[in-house]
Amino acid sequence: MFPDKLHKKLLNRIENRSLRGLATRDDLIDFSSNDYLGFAKSEAIFNKAHQYLLDSSLKVNGATGSRLLSGNYSLYNELEAKLSNYHNSESALLFNSGYNANLGLFSSVPQRGDIILYDEYAHASIRDGIKLSNAKAYKFQHNNLDDLSSQLERSREFFSENEIYVVTESVFSMDGDSPDLKAMLQITKKHKAHLIIDEAHALGVFDFGLIQQLRIEKDVFARIMTFGKALGCHGAAILASNQLKKYLINFSRPFIYTTAMTPHSLSLIKVAYNELNSAKGDQKLENIIQFFKSKIDELGVSKYFINSNSAIQSCIISGNKEVKDISNLLLQNSFDVKPILSPTVPEGEERLRFCLHIYNTKEEITNVLELLCNFVKTN
Ligand SMILES: Cc1ncc(COP(=O)(O)O)c(C=O)c1O
Repeated sequence: MFPDKLHKKLLNRIENRSLRGLATRDDLIDFSSNDYLGFAKSEAIFNKAHQYLLDSSLKVNGATGSRLLSGNYSLYNELEAKLSNYHNSESALLFNSGYNANLGLFSSVPQRGDIILYDEYAHASIRDGIKLSNAKAYKFQHNNLDDLSSQLERSREFFSENEIYVVTESVFSMDGDSPDLKAMLQITKKHKAHLIIDEAHALGVFDFGLIQQLRIEKDVFARIMTFGKALGCHGAAILASNQLKKYLINFSRPFIYTTAMTPHSLSLIKVAYNELNSAKGDQKLENIIQFFKSKIDELGVSKYFINSNSAIQSCIISGNKEVKDISNLLLQNSFDVKPILSPTVPEGEERLRFCLHIYNTKEEITNVLELLCNFVKTN
């Protein structure tokens, strides 16, 4: 018999119209994937990654073990050196995914007695890592530096000698917006706190990430780069000091107790980085984002959108039913725009999340926004 409590939880999801399911359709116009640069569909990247494995005699299917046991083949060291170089970081440590990287970092680094201050909208992987840590954790209001500042002051008053970690994202996955990273760095420095930035949705959208664009990489304690978004493949890296890398290799359980990534995965990351490096400064995605923003202005619906310069543009439509209805309507017209429901976002802030890509045409953007207008203006 299926446990009653679990059955009730599923029923509750159905009642709230928030039940999730796994759909497969590849005939839709993509406004939902994280493949911002089209790398996931790139035949050139596929072929180059394959060729690299053949040229390096890496004709194997699996890593055979954890990196601390039999899984640390030479491509790992080569790729980590390359990532440190590209990202202007002392070290890089690869993880099997962004989820694992955040779990591995936050569960092992902050110690009992330490404080973690994290943005209230931080990704689930950050919050799950924090839950596994022995440190005390407090949220600060989304992108609110005054709130962060007063929490830092209060924490320093009571815990003058303890380590404080401040955690945020350079581009938020649900809102697409960004904190004032330079000002945040000043505040954390003032209180001798360590700043940790998840760059999952900034890498590739803003070249090698916003921290690097702002040239503050040397002042940040750790950066998390994930390769399943604009890089179009899979995996992640923590960019940090040599000391922190050594610490994670020794104490980060999601790093230690798992089979290492396959040579195929690493080869894809390597080739995707080469492509990103040669595409640096390309304005294509930025032009698409600017076109989308000017179109919502022109159609008079920008007031429903969260202000964002990134590839994530979210239109608030409160209510799970309402946002699902409009998403279905767009789907009937072949547009794949995902509804983001509560409890993933706070109740009343349900939204349609448009993810923009280099391959979205102006015509597609115009058509999808005109359809959206019919709905938001009549509701
Ligand atoms: C901000 C952020 N961090 C981490 C992750 C997890 O990355 P991955 O998909 O590689 O596990 C995501 C993915 O949605 C994310 O949006």
